[in-house]
Amino acid sequence: MSIAFGIDIGGSGIKGAPVDLTTGELIGSRKRIPTPEKSTPDAVAEICAEVLASFDVDGDTPVGVSLPGPVRHGEVLFMANLHKDWKGTNSDDLMTRALGRPVRTVNDADAAGYAEVAYGAAKDKMGTVIVTTLGTGIGSAVIVDGVLVPNTELGHLEIDGHNAESRAASSARDREDLSFKQWAKRLTTYYAHLEMLFSPDLFVVGGGVSKEHAEFLHLVKVKTPMVPAALRNTAGIVGAARLAAPPLTVVTP
Ligand code: BGC
Repeated sequence: MSIAFGIDIGGSGIKGAPVDLTTGELIGSRKRIPTPEKSTPDAVAEICAEVLASFDVDGDTPVGVSLPGPVRHGEVLFMANLHKDWKGTNSDDLMTRALGRPVRTVNDADAAGYAEVAYGAAKDKMGTVIVTTLGTGIGSAVIVDGVLVPNTELGHLEIDGHNAESRAASSARDREDLSFKQWAKRLTTYYAHLEMLFSPDLFVVGGGVSKEHAEFLHLVKVKTPMVPAALRNTAGIVGAARLAAPPLTVVTP
């Protein structure tokens, strides 16, 4: 069995578990610790170390961490929904120090998208797949013929003068107490815009709210096929683990 450890940093919780890379399944149950209110890089890194320490993980097991901001060569370029000190932090170095072993950090939506392509709703799908995560913000992953184009940040597109995630994220539905029908209208505006820009072959809709997909997905009126994410709330962990590990070797007899 090929194993890596994944940690997913979210606005409300930091979750981690070992992952079986052959199946994309968690090995046992995940550990979740609430995100500290003052979510500075150091405070969050300390919790990541605590999550890892709750498991008995071999020293040579790869560790990946996903976080809610764009990460280029280890550097966090901006941070919309955690402490602003993240901007300019080298998250690879920070986590490597805090966890005492090499760590690779990636954007949370890229991790989730990669997991969906490797194991989930977009497995073996060629063409342009756009995976979105609807949560505190909107995360995006663009995958073309199985290759991830990282850090696309399509949740921050400006639509009708608004930052898209401020109107269409799942947090906007909660904040404004929108019905699924009202929210789906906003999602239609959002996904129609993505459709116009990318002509994708498939939309995969993830994030915590995707478990309620039967309530709203059919109300989103776009031409592109749209399916719920298959991995639901494990996608960030699984994708972070997968992206930290060397490519799986195919053993031929
Ligand atoms: C961030 C993205 C992130 C998304 C989902 C956005 O506000 O800018 O990097 O993927 O939220 O967490």
